[in-house]
Amino acid sequence: MKLLILNGPNLNLLGLREPEIYGNRTYSDLCKLIEAHAAAIGVEAEVRQSNHEGVLVDWIQEARGKFDGIVLNPAAYTHTSIALLDAVLAAGVPTVELHVSDPDTREPFRRISYVRPACIACVKGRGLEGYLDAMDLLKLKMEN
Ligand code: DQA
Repeated sequence: MKLLILNGPNLNLLGLREPEIYGNRTYSDLCKLIEAHAAAIGVEAEVRQSNHEGVLVDWIQEARGKFDGIVLNPAAYTHTSIALLDAVLAAGVPTVELHVSDPDTREPFRRISYVRPACIACVKGRGLEGYLDAMDLLKLKMEN
């Protein structure tokens, strides 16, 4: 089973950006955490990050027929991007929306998620460990 873990804008700055919200661990720490968990649960995981909406669209399209699941943290594009919603719908790959923080308890503009209707679940407010929960969810979904 192959999972694609996609991260949107500014997530490369984890550990530096607003540590009171996103914590002190870095993007590289996140990659290591995901790799270790993938090995532990016996799945392959490819982790990517881009600050560019179109690149994320390309990667979601690429997942069709190549990956069994996507963990998608669209970051700020969550709240703006119909293109990402359409890409997830078009790809037809089970996708879990992921947020390190809980956007629903923050500023009102973060309460809108355009991608949520296309996703099988949303994991939010669990810190970096949320990525691992999302991977477990996708694995369970594949097995059932
Ligand atoms: C985020 C939440 C978004 O509102 C924000 O724009 C981000 C990160 C999260 O992981 O908590 O960049 O997706």
